[in-house]
Amino acid sequence: MAGEINKAVFPIAGLGTRTLPATKVLAKEMLTLVDRPIIQHAVEEALSAGIRELIFVTAEAKQIIRDHFQPNVKLERELALRGKQELLETVRSIPPEGISCRYVTQHEPLGLGHAVLCAKPLVGDEPFAVILPDDLIYHDERTCLQQMVEIYREKNANVVAVENVALERVSRYGVVETVSDRDGAKKMKSIVEKPAPDEAPSTLAVVGRYIFTPAIMALLETTPSGAGNEIQLTDAIAALLGTEDVYLCEFQGRRYDCGSILGYMQANVEYALRDEAIGAEFQSYLAELVKD
Ligand code: G1P
Repeated sequence: MAGEINKAVFPIAGLGTRTLPATKVLAKEMLTLVDRPIIQHAVEEALSAGIRELIFVTAEAKQIIRDHFQPNVKLERELALRGKQELLETVRSIPPEGISCRYVTQHEPLGLGHAVLCAKPLVGDEPFAVILPDDLIYHDERTCLQQMVEIYREKNANVVAVENVALERVSRYGVVETVSDRDGAKKMKSIVEKPAPDEAPSTLAVVGRYIFTPAIMALLETTPSGAGNEIQLTDAIAALLGTEDVYLCEFQGRRYDCGSILGYMQANVEYALRDEAIGAEFQSYLAELVKD
């Protein structure tokens, strides 16, 4: 039987250059989507899939993220004094009881593969998930990670989320070549990081969700710097294909690239439209605005 996925790694040491100047001081994962920061959306997805331990790989400058996931005693006292019970419960449940948050610092920006490797002492010898919070994925019933855990349980193997993208965009992603197993499920045959459109094996791009067996860590330890002089997770996945299966999850749902201003704005508008508290009013407002 497949081991349970209890841990999720969030590599969040990136500089956020695509969202400057908003992220000159503020960590990009703290930009808000409607009423909560992007990182909280990512954490909620992890929790939806049964994750109990959150491992943040941060840069020194991201104390604000630790603060967000720690009790704010002063705020809680004030809310209690003012009888704001609902708000008090909302802030107290970040994170919910029984969920642990652990932190490791990535001292140098040596790439996504290096960031995941930094989490090795905290992950130990267990299967684990990796979530890139920039890739925000919405689904109204089953989150992307829930869909992936289902495949992981069935196949007892690595799982990577993929999505079809326009050919001219493949050079932004890890891109995969596929093969089917006996049951017809799609597996990875090869993977290449940020290929030129005329060299891409397909238009199936990796998005920021992974489930790995512990084998990936040993491979990351020996992965040399690759594209952009960084230690690429994609290169370690390519090496993993020599010994293990990597299944593909063509997830259902809508992905937003919150690492770019356009994607972030699109996500904010669509999440606001879906929001229980403000959705209806926001929709009338937008309709009026567009009419003018
Ligand atoms: C990283 C990975 C890439 C993947 C992408 C998903 O790239 O290296 O393989 O397709 O995330 O968002 P980055 O966005 O860090 O350049």
